Amino acid sequence: MENKADINGKWALVTGASRGIGRQVSLGLASYGCNIILHSRQLANTDALATELSATGVKTLQVAAELSDSAQVDAMMAEILATGPAIDILYNNAAIMTSYLSEWTTVPAEDFRASFEVNVIALIRICHAVIPGMVDRKWGRIVNVTSGIADQPELIAYAVSKGAVDKYVYDTAGKLTPSGVLMNLLDPGWLRTDLGGPNAPGSVESVLPGALVPVLLDDGTAGKLFRAQDWAGTEI
Ligand SMILES: NC(=O)c1ccc[n+]([C@@H]2O[C@H](COP(=O)([O-])OP(=O)(O)OC[C@H]3O[C@@H](n4cnc5c(N)ncnc54)[C@H](OP(=O)(O)O)[C@@H]3O)[C@@H](O)[C@H]2O)c1
Repeated sequence: MENKADINGKWALVTGASRGIGRQVSLGLASYGCNIILHSRQLANTDALATELSATGVKTLQVAAELSDSAQVDAMMAEILATGPAIDILYNNAAIMTSYLSEWTTVPAEDFRASFEVNVIALIRICHAVIPGMVDRKWGRIVNVTSGIADQPELIAYAVSKGAVDKYVYDTAGKLTPSGVLMNLLDPGWLRTDLGGPNAPGSVESVLPGALVPVLLDDGTAGKLFRAQDWAGTEI
Protein backbone atom coordinates (compact mmCIF):
# COMPACT_ATOMS: atom_id res chain seq x y z
CA MET A 1 0.00 0.00 0.00
CA GLU A 2 1.39 3.40 -0.97
CA ASN A 3 0.93 6.44 1.27
CA LYS A 4 0.04 4.72 4.52
CA ALA A 5 -1.33 6.99 7.25
CA ASP A 6 1.13 7.43 10.11
CA ILE A 7 -0.70 6.18 13.21
CA ASN A 8 2.36 6.06 15.46
CA GLY A 9 1.37 7.82 18.71
CA LYS A 10 -2.28 8.16 17.75
CA TRP A 11 -5.02 6.71 20.00
CA ALA A 12 -7.54 4.08 18.92
CA LEU A 13 -10.63 2.88 20.78
CA VAL A 14 -11.25 -0.79 20.00
CA THR A 15 -14.55 -2.22 21.24
CA GLY A 16 -14.62 -5.92 22.06
CA ALA A 17 -10.84 -5.94 22.37
CA SER A 18 -10.56 -8.75 24.91
CA ARG A 19 -10.62 -11.69 22.48
CA GLY A 20 -11.27 -12.76 18.91
CA ILE A 21 -11.06 -10.19 16.14
CA GLY A 22 -10.84 -7.16 18.45
CA ARG A 23 -7.76 -8.60 20.09
CA GLN A 24 -6.12 -9.11 16.68
CA VAL A 25 -7.04 -5.59 15.57
CA SER A 26 -5.52 -4.20 18.77
CA LEU A 27 -2.30 -6.14 18.22
CA GLY A 28 -2.19 -4.99 14.59
CA LEU A 29 -2.73 -1.31 15.39
CA ALA A 30 -0.15 -1.47 18.18
CA SER A 31 2.40 -2.91 15.75
CA TYR A 32 2.26 0.49 14.02
CA GLY A 33 2.88 2.29 17.32
CA CYS A 34 -0.77 3.17 17.93
CA ASN A 35 -1.91 3.53 21.55
CA ILE A 36 -5.09 1.65 22.38
CA ILE A 37 -8.14 2.10 24.59
CA LEU A 38 -9.26 -1.48 25.14
CA HIS A 39 -12.99 -2.05 25.68
CA SER A 40 -14.77 -5.12 27.00
CA ARG A 41 -17.50 -5.78 29.56
CA GLN A 42 -15.13 -6.15 32.52
CA LEU A 43 -11.83 -4.36 33.01
CA ALA A 44 -10.20 -7.67 33.99
CA ASN A 45 -11.02 -9.12 30.54
CA THR A 46 -8.41 -6.89 28.88
CA ASP A 47 -5.72 -7.16 31.59
CA ALA A 48 -3.65 -9.76 29.72
CA LEU A 49 -3.80 -7.86 26.42
CA ALA A 50 -2.92 -4.56 28.12
CA THR A 51 0.17 -6.19 29.62
CA GLU A 52 1.11 -7.70 26.25
CA LEU A 53 0.69 -4.39 24.41
CA SER A 54 2.49 -2.32 27.04
CA ALA A 55 5.51 -4.59 26.64
CA THR A 56 5.70 -3.45 22.99
CA GLY A 57 6.00 0.19 24.09
CA VAL A 58 2.53 1.50 23.29
CA LYS A 59 0.22 3.05 25.88
CA THR A 60 -3.06 1.41 26.83
CA LEU A 61 -6.17 2.31 28.77
CA GLN A 62 -8.92 -0.12 29.74
CA VAL A 63 -12.63 0.70 29.75
CA ALA A 64 -15.70 -1.43 30.42
CA ALA A 65 -19.33 -1.20 29.38
CA GLU A 66 -22.16 -3.61 28.68
CA LEU A 67 -23.17 -2.37 25.23
CA SER A 68 -26.81 -3.45 25.55
CA ASP A 69 -27.14 -0.77 28.24
CA SER A 70 -27.25 2.71 26.69
CA ALA A 71 -26.51 4.31 30.07
CA GLN A 72 -23.27 2.33 30.35
CA VAL A 73 -22.33 3.22 26.78
CA ASP A 74 -22.91 6.92 27.40
CA ALA A 75 -21.07 6.83 30.74
CA MET A 76 -18.06 5.12 29.17
CA MET A 77 -17.87 7.61 26.33
CA ALA A 78 -18.36 10.58 28.68
CA GLU A 79 -15.51 9.33 30.86
CA ILE A 80 -13.20 8.85 27.87
CA LEU A 81 -14.02 12.29 26.46
CA ALA A 82 -13.59 13.98 29.85
CA THR A 83 -10.45 12.28 31.10
CA GLY A 84 -8.92 10.23 28.28
CA PRO A 85 -6.82 11.07 25.26
CA ALA A 86 -8.41 12.34 22.06
CA ILE A 87 -9.59 9.41 19.97
CA ASP A 88 -8.15 9.40 16.45
CA ILE A 89 -9.32 5.94 15.41
CA LEU A 90 -12.52 4.15 16.37
CA TYR A 91 -12.71 0.43 15.69
CA ASN A 92 -16.30 -0.58 16.44
CA ASN A 93 -15.84 -4.33 16.63
CA ALA A 94 -17.91 -5.69 19.53
CA ALA A 95 -21.09 -7.53 18.62
CA ILE A 96 -23.29 -10.40 19.70
CA MET A 97 -24.81 -13.13 17.57
CA THR A 98 -28.12 -14.63 18.67
CA SER A 99 -28.67 -18.40 18.66
CA TYR A 100 -29.11 -20.37 15.42
CA LEU A 101 -32.84 -21.04 15.04
CA SER A 102 -33.79 -24.27 13.27
CA GLU A 103 -37.40 -23.08 13.50
CA TRP A 104 -36.40 -19.96 11.65
CA THR A 105 -39.89 -18.49 11.20
CA THR A 106 -40.21 -18.19 15.00
CA VAL A 107 -37.74 -15.52 15.99
CA PRO A 108 -38.07 -14.20 19.55
CA ALA A 109 -38.57 -10.44 19.48
CA GLU A 110 -35.88 -10.31 22.14
CA ASP A 111 -33.33 -11.58 19.59
CA PHE A 112 -33.96 -8.48 17.46
CA ARG A 113 -33.86 -6.17 20.49
CA ALA A 114 -30.61 -7.60 21.83
CA SER A 115 -28.93 -7.58 18.41
CA PHE A 116 -29.93 -4.01 17.69
CA GLU A 117 -29.01 -2.71 21.16
CA VAL A 118 -25.44 -4.03 20.98
CA ASN A 119 -24.68 -4.24 17.27
CA VAL A 120 -26.41 -1.08 16.03
CA ILE A 121 -27.52 1.37 18.71
CA ALA A 122 -24.37 1.18 20.83
CA LEU A 123 -22.19 1.26 17.70
CA ILE A 124 -23.87 4.42 16.46
CA ARG A 125 -23.81 6.11 19.89
CA ILE A 126 -20.07 5.43 20.12
CA CYS A 127 -19.54 6.87 16.63
CA HIS A 128 -21.53 9.96 17.48
CA ALA A 129 -19.57 10.49 20.70
CA VAL A 130 -16.21 10.61 18.89
CA ILE A 131 -17.19 12.30 15.61
CA PRO A 132 -17.30 15.94 16.85
CA GLY A 133 -13.73 15.73 18.19
CA MET A 134 -12.45 14.09 15.04
CA VAL A 135 -14.12 16.75 12.90
CA ASP A 136 -12.61 19.53 15.05
CA ARG A 137 -9.15 17.98 14.67
CA LYS A 138 -9.77 17.36 10.93
CA TRP A 139 -8.60 13.75 11.11
CA GLY A 140 -10.24 10.49 12.03
CA ARG A 141 -10.75 6.89 11.03
CA ILE A 142 -13.88 4.93 11.91
CA VAL A 143 -14.17 1.26 11.05
CA ASN A 144 -17.49 -0.41 11.76
CA VAL A 145 -17.37 -4.19 11.66
CA THR A 146 -20.07 -5.84 9.58
CA SER A 147 -20.54 -9.40 8.32
CA GLY A 148 -20.75 -11.17 5.01
CA ILE A 149 -23.53 -13.36 6.38
CA ALA A 150 -26.05 -14.19 3.65
CA ASP A 151 -28.95 -16.57 3.02
CA GLN A 152 -29.22 -17.67 6.66
CA PRO A 153 -32.69 -16.77 7.98
CA GLU A 154 -31.81 -18.93 11.00
CA LEU A 155 -29.59 -16.04 12.13
CA ILE A 156 -31.80 -13.23 10.84
CA ALA A 157 -31.71 -11.03 13.96
CA TYR A 158 -27.92 -10.86 13.74
CA ALA A 159 -27.95 -10.51 9.94
CA VAL A 160 -30.40 -7.62 9.82
CA SER A 161 -28.49 -5.82 12.58
CA LYS A 162 -25.39 -5.95 10.39
CA GLY A 163 -27.49 -4.73 7.45
CA ALA A 164 -28.41 -1.74 9.60
CA VAL A 165 -24.74 -1.07 10.32
CA ASP A 166 -24.07 -1.09 6.57
CA LYS A 167 -26.91 1.40 5.96
CA TYR A 168 -25.60 3.65 8.74
CA VAL A 169 -22.13 3.77 7.21
CA TYR A 170 -23.32 4.26 3.63
CA ASP A 171 -25.57 7.14 4.69
CA THR A 172 -23.07 8.80 7.05
CA ALA A 173 -19.63 8.47 5.50
CA GLY A 174 -20.11 11.16 2.85
CA LYS A 175 -21.06 13.73 5.47
CA LEU A 176 -17.72 13.23 7.22
CA THR A 177 -15.29 12.89 4.36
CA PRO A 178 -14.79 16.65 3.72
CA SER A 179 -13.58 17.03 7.30
CA GLY A 180 -10.93 14.33 6.99
CA VAL A 181 -12.88 11.71 8.93
CA LEU A 182 -13.09 8.49 6.95
CA MET A 183 -15.77 5.94 7.91
CA ASN A 184 -15.74 2.48 6.36
CA LEU A 185 -16.97 -1.08 6.88
CA LEU A 186 -14.90 -4.19 7.54
CA ASP A 187 -16.05 -7.73 6.87
CA PRO A 188 -13.55 -9.94 8.68
CA GLY A 189 -14.58 -13.20 6.98
CA TRP A 190 -15.84 -16.30 8.77
CA LEU A 191 -13.22 -16.98 11.43
CA ARG A 192 -12.70 -19.35 14.33
CA THR A 193 -13.61 -17.22 17.35
CA ASP A 194 -16.13 -17.64 20.14
CA LEU A 195 -18.71 -15.99 17.84
CA GLY A 196 -17.60 -17.65 14.60
CA GLY A 197 -17.37 -21.11 16.16
CA PRO A 198 -14.91 -23.97 15.63
CA ASN A 199 -16.09 -24.86 12.10
CA ALA A 200 -15.20 -21.53 10.51
CA PRO A 201 -12.69 -21.89 7.66
CA GLY A 202 -10.39 -19.05 8.68
CA SER A 203 -8.03 -18.53 11.61
CA VAL A 204 -8.61 -15.41 13.65
CA GLU A 205 -5.08 -14.29 12.76
CA SER A 206 -6.09 -14.11 9.08
CA VAL A 207 -8.06 -10.93 9.81
CA LEU A 208 -4.66 -9.22 9.67
CA PRO A 209 -3.39 -7.34 7.84
CA GLY A 210 -6.65 -6.66 5.96
CA ALA A 211 -8.46 -5.29 9.02
CA LEU A 212 -5.88 -2.50 9.16
CA VAL A 213 -6.37 -1.37 5.54
CA PRO A 214 -9.32 0.99 6.22
CA VAL A 215 -7.27 2.62 8.99
CA LEU A 216 -4.00 2.96 7.10
CA LEU A 217 -5.35 3.80 3.65
CA ASP A 218 -4.74 7.50 3.15
CA ASP A 219 -6.40 8.21 -0.18
CA GLY A 220 -9.74 9.55 1.07
CA THR A 221 -11.68 6.31 0.57
CA ALA A 222 -14.85 6.33 2.66
CA GLY A 223 -18.19 4.57 2.70
CA LYS A 224 -16.63 1.41 1.38
CA LEU A 225 -16.85 -2.24 2.41
CA PHE A 226 -13.40 -3.78 2.94
CA ARG A 227 -13.05 -7.57 3.10
CA ALA A 228 -10.16 -8.54 5.36
CA GLN A 229 -9.68 -11.87 3.62
CA ASP A 230 -8.74 -10.06 0.38
CA TRP A 231 -5.39 -9.32 2.08
CA ALA A 232 -4.92 -12.60 4.00
CA GLY A 233 -1.36 -13.85 3.67
CA THR A 234 -0.14 -10.62 2.05
CA GLU A 235 1.85 -7.63 3.20
CA ILE A 236 0.29 -4.20 3.02
N1 LIG B 1 -15.97 -14.50 13.86
C1 LIG B 1 -16.58 -14.44 12.67
O1 LIG B 1 -16.62 -15.42 11.91
C2 LIG B 1 -17.20 -13.14 12.22
C3 LIG B 1 -17.73 -13.09 10.92
C4 LIG B 1 -18.29 -11.88 10.48
C5 LIG B 1 -18.32 -10.79 11.32
N2 LIG B 1 -17.83 -10.89 12.59
C6 LIG B 1 -17.88 -9.71 13.44
O2 LIG B 1 -16.60 -9.45 14.01
C7 LIG B 1 -16.76 -8.81 15.27
C8 LIG B 1 -15.97 -9.53 16.33
O3 LIG B 1 -16.42 -10.87 16.38
P1 LIG B 1 -15.60 -12.02 17.14
O4 LIG B 1 -15.81 -13.24 16.37
O5 LIG B 1 -14.23 -11.57 17.45
O6 LIG B 1 -16.48 -12.13 18.50
P2 LIG B 1 -16.09 -12.74 19.94
O7 LIG B 1 -14.90 -13.62 19.82
O8 LIG B 1 -17.35 -13.30 20.46
O9 LIG B 1 -15.65 -11.45 20.79
C9 LIG B 1 -16.63 -10.52 21.12
C10 LIG B 1 -16.02 -9.31 21.81
O10 LIG B 1 -17.08 -8.36 22.04
C11 LIG B 1 -17.25 -8.16 23.43
N3 LIG B 1 -18.67 -8.22 23.75
C12 LIG B 1 -19.51 -9.25 23.51
N4 LIG B 1 -20.75 -8.96 23.95
C13 LIG B 1 -20.69 -7.70 24.46
C14 LIG B 1 -21.64 -6.85 25.08
N5 LIG B 1 -22.91 -7.23 25.26
N6 LIG B 1 -21.23 -5.64 25.51
C15 LIG B 1 -19.94 -5.27 25.37
N7 LIG B 1 -18.99 -6.02 24.80
C16 LIG B 1 -19.36 -7.23 24.34
C17 LIG B 1 -16.50 -9.29 24.13
O11 LIG B 1 -16.00 -8.81 25.37
P3 LIG B 1 -16.07 -9.59 26.77
O12 LIG B 1 -14.65 -9.87 27.16
O13 LIG B 1 -16.72 -8.64 27.71
O14 LIG B 1 -16.86 -10.85 26.56
C18 LIG B 1 -15.40 -9.61 23.14
O15 LIG B 1 -14.30 -8.77 23.34
C19 LIG B 1 -18.26 -8.75 15.52
O16 LIG B 1 -18.75 -7.49 15.07
C20 LIG B 1 -18.81 -9.85 14.63
O17 LIG B 1 -20.16 -9.63 14.27
C21 LIG B 1 -17.26 -12.04 13.06
